Amino acid sequence: MNNFKILLAFLVIGCTSCAKNDSEPNQVTADKTIAATDVSTLKLSDDNTFQNTLPFPIGVGINMGILKRDSRYRDIVIKEYNSISAETAMKMKSLRPSATTYKWSEADDLVKFAEENNKRVYGHALIWGNSLPGWVKDFKGGYPEWKQMFKAHITQVVKHFKGKVVAWDVINEAFADNGDLKNTIWRQKLGPNYIDMAFIFAHRADPSAILFINDYGMEYGNNKRRGLVKYVEGMIERGIPIDGIGTQFHSRVNLPDAKFSRALNEIAATGLKVHISEMEISLNPASLQSLLLSSLLEREQAAKYEYIVRSYNALPKKQQFGITLWNVTDKDSWVLNYYDRPDWPLPFDGNYQKKPAYQGILDGVN
Ligand code: G3I
Repeated sequence: MNNFKILLAFLVIGCTSCAKNDSEPNQVTADKTIAATDVSTLKLSDDNTFQNTLPFPIGVGINMGILKRDSRYRDIVIKEYNSISAETAMKMKSLRPSATTYKWSEADDLVKFAEENNKRVYGHALIWGNSLPGWVKDFKGGYPEWKQMFKAHITQVVKHFKGKVVAWDVINEAFADNGDLKNTIWRQKLGPNYIDMAFIFAHRADPSAILFINDYGMEYGNNKRRGLVKYVEGMIERGIPIDGIGTQFHSRVNLPDAKFSRALNEIAATGLKVHISEMEISLNPASLQSLLLSSLLEREQAAKYEYIVRSYNALPKKQQFGITLWNVTDKDSWVLNYYDRPDWPLPFDGNYQKKPAYQGILDGVN
């Protein structure tokens, strides 16, 4: 009798696993293990069943192409994050194939996915000097024509996503390392006032949208950070409708802890909302092609994520807009392509498994 039961049990488990193995070999074992023991997720779950979570929104920058074709990528986004940003789908290059057309499909698919999975959508980015369609660089016209084109883009995009996108990076990466405004095409054609105009046009298009200025290097560029903060304080004095500052934190494991907390505190001193908007912690900033991942590096990375999250969680609650990681797993991180180096910057590895960095993020609030 017993032998028969054991045989039956084996057949059931066997069958289940053989079904999945066809498409995703290690899926079954990993899932079972996680499902049995691990109850943590980064996001506060909709019905609060999970204990070990973060007290502020936790987001991720997603690539729609991968989201559509990779169920393990999608599962992590659904399970772990309650806010999503578009890695490229909402940039001018993606939305504006020509001066007279708008291509909403990929961005609309992201919004649809968010609505179906109860995710907040963060809009990235309305005006940036990069990732521009060719026709913008060749756009013919004087100040009035450029202003009209600039205003139309912001107004049309914000209106299209009104009520679906809660917040926008209105201006992305406008500051140079010395703290002055970068000489982007928008500054060349519209003058330094283009930043104020962008916020005014975005606010008119959707008065309920939370409007951010976003930039990188806040943790290691003192002049840049102070230039941005000074400019934002001027905007507040001029009554420009700005609600928050995004600090990207595309950062590295060998940057001293204090640089992160100083950046967060100086930005928060404006009184505006603070969004860590595109974080990852590189383990190979020197771009060593021979570097191998080690448990020491993983522990250092976990400690860095923990320190940053702890510093963020110390900010006044009403200013905590949330933390967003840029990309989902180490293998889809922009860092590997852009710097062409081995690197492991995120809390999930290339096999979709949690790394010590994941626990580091959670420990940051405990
Ligand atoms: O989709 C096309 C594909 O059809 C084509 O075959 C391929 C080869 O050229 O390019 C693909 O487009 C690429 C796109 O990413 C999608 O993967 C673009 O060339 C590439 O430039 C684009 O890079 C993105 C970059 O912003 C520029 O938009 C990165 O994925 C994205 O991670 C990066 O994100 C930026 C933030 O927006 C702002 N802060 C810095 C951050 C990192 O650079």
